[in-house]
Amino acid sequence: MCDKLFDKGFIGRAIKFPVLSSISLVVLILIFYSDTILSTPPHHHLHKRNDFMGTQKVAERITQFSVQERIRELALLDGEYEVDPMIPPENVTKVERIKWFRKKLPELEILHSNNLTKQFHGRVLEFLNNGCSIQFYMVWLSPARFFGNRDFLAVDTLFKSHPQGCLMIISRTMDSRRGYRILKPLLDHGFKVLAVTPDLPFLVKNTPAESWLEGIKSGKRDPGYVPLSQNLCNLIRLSVLHRYGGVYLDTDMIILRDFSELRNSVGAQTVDPVSKKWITLNGAVMIFDINHPILLDFIEEFSSTFNGNRWGFNGPFLVTRVIGRVGSTPGYNVTVMPPEAFYPVNWLKIHRLFKKPESAAETRMVESTLNELNDGESGTFAVHLWNKRSKELKIEEGSVMARLILDHCVICQNIFT
Ligand SMILES: *[C@@H]1O[C@H](CO)[C@@H](O)[C@H](O)[C@H]1NC(C)=O
Ligand SMILES: *[C@@H]1O[C@H](CO)[C@@H](O)[C@H](O)[C@H]1NC(C)=O
Ligand SMILES: *[C@@H]1O[C@H](CO)[C@@H](O)[C@H](O)[C@H]1NC(C)=O
Repeated sequence: MCDKLFDKGFIGRAIKFPVLSSISLVVLILIFYSDTILSTPPHHHLHKRNDFMGTQKVAERITQFSVQERIRELALLDGEYEVDPMIPPENVTKVERIKWFRKKLPELEILHSNNLTKQFHGRVLEFLNNGCSIQFYMVWLSPARFFGNRDFLAVDTLFKSHPQGCLMIISRTMDSRRGYRILKPLLDHGFKVLAVTPDLPFLVKNTPAESWLEGIKSGKRDPGYVPLSQNLCNLIRLSVLHRYGGVYLDTDMIILRDFSELRNSVGAQTVDPVSKKWITLNGAVMIFDINHPILLDFIEEFSSTFNGNRWGFNGPFLVTRVIGRVGSTPGYNVTVMPPEAFYPVNWLKIHRLFKKPESAAETRMVESTLNELNDGESGTFAVHLWNKRSKELKIEEGSVMARLILDHCVICQNIFT
């Protein structure tokens, strides 16, 4: 859920409701939400502030609730007690936003250690001691109910190409009964997957991000208008790779090939068509040895240049800046993979993969695209799906996406829904 342009992320937070007094509220909200919930995924309700008002009549009935309360009630309705919209109010000055943020701070459990987070390091070490052929990490800071079929397909295809690999989903919300239910089909197959609640203060300890986190926790630092969860997601992936080493993956990917041969690598997103030199990099896939020195360079850059008002600045653009500056340092051995490796399809064209062929020419296109993606020679390890552009697209039967997934899944559930 990280680094998607225009994505508005969330940080989970436990909210305990007095259930009795909420029952009448639930009934009311049920009436309000029943039609909208059935027609569109819940994402919309939480991601677009103004979507909460359904019809005029319903809007009148609920005007006594603030948007915040409605988000909480929606969570309650969903049987989930953890939601925190870390979306700052729109159109406020920096001073007003910092004031708002300071009020919010005590609720932001992800910034603090507690009994559960304290177990983080121990749980990680125990899990990684499972004979993992390779260590993968994903980060999930949205509510668990948003971990959908597409996200599951990323995990599913990962285990097809790495049946002995270990995947840790760094997430407080997925480290729950609900998360367990989502991952259960994989566990039943004997795959090694674990959702684990992170300990952020521990992760950044003795790194340049320690003072950054202090600044955030003390309310001295402006988190910016980009939801803080996005930037925490950027920081967590860097810190986890620094502490444990392995492969970080976004959840909007389809994994096609074994990653074992890759070391200390990131992928180019765009290259100069003439010189073939990379122009922009992306951090949706990052493979690094534990303690690789460039990870501290990334974390240092994150802390010293942090800008919460620019999309991607502390994510893909950060990776691009740092590798541009120090990537060729002798001894760093950092490899920039060509776009074909992880981003073989441009985000403007990704929708084409989801459409079934309608003519002989299109059928030939589907075949040749599949051949290219599946051909080891072309060097495609994974296909990044640019969730923001493709999340709403249906995977049509016979499309490149459908056939790619069918070739590369194990559980293969809910592909066409
Ligand atoms: C947002 O800010 C702009 C410029 O400061 C102002 O013109 C506009 O009225 C504001 N909108 C809202 C909804 O406050
Ligand atoms: C944390 O664990 C300690 C020891 O197990 C216990 O005494 C304490 O009450 C726990 N605190 C919370 C907030 O659960
Ligand atoms: C880069 O490769 C050399 C030679 O294999 C090795 O000695 C060195 O430790 C590597 N550097 C890093 C940062 O991994």
